[in-house]
Amino acid sequence: MTPALEPALATLLRTMPKAELHVHIEGTLEPELIFELAARNGVPLAYPDVAALRAAYAFTDLQSFLDVYYAGASVLRTADDFHAMAMAYHRRAAADRVVHAELFFDPQTHTARGVPMGTVIDGLWRAREEAARTLGVTSELILCFLRHLSEDEAMATLEAALPWRERFVGVGLDSSERGHPPEKFARVFARAGALGLRRVAHAGEEGPPAYVASALDVLGVERIDHGVRAIEDAALVRRLADARVPLTVCPLSNVKLRVYRDMSQHTLPRLLAAGVCVTVNSDDPAYFGGYVNANYEALFAAFPSMGRAEAYRLAANSFEASFADDARKAAWRGELDAAFAAG
Ligand code: HPA
Ligand code: ZN
Repeated sequence: MTPALEPALATLLRTMPKAELHVHIEGTLEPELIFELAARNGVPLAYPDVAALRAAYAFTDLQSFLDVYYAGASVLRTADDFHAMAMAYHRRAAADRVVHAELFFDPQTHTARGVPMGTVIDGLWRAREEAARTLGVTSELILCFLRHLSEDEAMATLEAALPWRERFVGVGLDSSERGHPPEKFARVFARAGALGLRRVAHAGEEGPPAYVASALDVLGVERIDHGVRAIEDAALVRRLADARVPLTVCPLSNVKLRVYRDMSQHTLPRLLAAGVCVTVNSDDPAYFGGYVNANYEALFAAFPSMGRAEAYRLAANSFEASFADDARKAAWRGELDAAFAAG
């Protein structure tokens, strides 16, 4: 049994301002919206109803999830579909007191089905603008390459997105990690760097600590997505801490995809105690059982040794690790201080 969270701490976790830096927008597609879009677009689904689809969300590893995730994304066809999905995420994020989000999107999942790059980016961008205006939640887009595909395909994807260069802040690397080391994407990340794009990559989720090091050394990334397996290499942990390389950790994802047997085995508290700039994020919240606050709550409930100080550190890290400018980071830090002074 997981002990209940102390009420004052639970309130603080829920109400403190935070940034979310690791969320795949296609992973926010809830089953109800999947069925609505499937009906609207005439896309056949392998499941008769929402309950049957949800029942399929029992994963054994990353690949077993990705198969279901790509099937879910197949209902997205029009810019309005991408807009609806992204607006739903921003509303949910606002409810969790997310003030800023940096959103991954997987264009190759859509262009491979004949959906134009412009359709994907237009829908997401419209939601980004509307959310800033109506919800006060700011966001940025990060274009991810699918690492199970070739580097030539990644390069072609980057080139195809360049007409919308001003609409994405950076590039990332996701999908099946094992057997697809960062080195495979050296040239496309070099090209992204030359274009002035920020760079991040998934590494050390299922893959070895060496992938974390090569993402830094070969791809030149500024943040590591997941990165939890870095804990297996003490020198690497020291390097991450000394260089303040952020890890965007996703606790519920790691348990759902069996990186850890249960939350009590999670290494986030140890990474945080070692001085690593760890952040808490939801990854694919529609599939993994909760949005960002559910991740904070599950983590703190599993570790009674974590309290106010750790909550503050994690939220402060989320702002420090973001791609926002220093003035905005300072303003958010002020809001965080106010939340802690009040609560
Ligand atoms: N890992 C790798 N690729 C992904 C994930 C993830 O957790 N979610 C969506 N694409
Ligand atoms: Zn991810």
